[in-house]
Amino acid sequence: MDNRDTSLPPGEVYARIGRDGFARLVTNFYQQVAEDELLRPMYPKGDLQPAARRLQMFLEQYFGGPDTYSQRRGHPRLRARHARFPIDRAARERWMALMRSALDDVDFPGEVRAAIEQYLENAATFMINRPPDEGGMFTTRYSPSDITTEE
Ligand code: HEM
Repeated sequence: MDNRDTSLPPGEVYARIGRDGFARLVTNFYQQVAEDELLRPMYPKGDLQPAARRLQMFLEQYFGGPDTYSQRRGHPRLRARHARFPIDRAARERWMALMRSALDDVDFPGEVRAAIEQYLENAATFMINRPPDEGGMFTTRYSPSDITTEE
């Protein structure tokens, strides 16, 4: 892992790692999702293979591969498709942590890894659709009546 690597243009990633690269990344990621107590409940019960296939097709398309995702699923509209999942900052951080761990394991060339990681960091932030569950700069879970000056 080296974020100082200059990243490849996204459209050139597929040519470098191919279908097999994306399959290894997504398989590794979903093996971790299967064990994750925060993320697992959001995903379909039972078999995670179909979900893994959707992510793989999407990533292949985004990074210069075949457009099978759009042929099968239509316009990605990713933020809308994620609206029903409670994605707060913590869920976003967990999702990225699992993805970074998968990227560590598959060990792509530095500029490939940088391209994928940069895109996903931004996309994952864009997917946040719930306020933080712990006090943040703009949100607080306390109401004025919770505030007391008593010891
Ligand atoms: C930020 C944290 C994220 C969480 C918690 C999350 C969670 C989920 C869940 C629960 C699903 C449904 C699984 C299925 O049946 O397909 C899903 C679908 C999907 N996610 Fe995410 N996701 C996150 C970020 C991302 C990011 C960053 C991307 C890619 C840029 C992405 C791409 C997709 C795609 C392509 C699908 C399938 C959409 C479809 O065609 O129905 N997700 N995600």
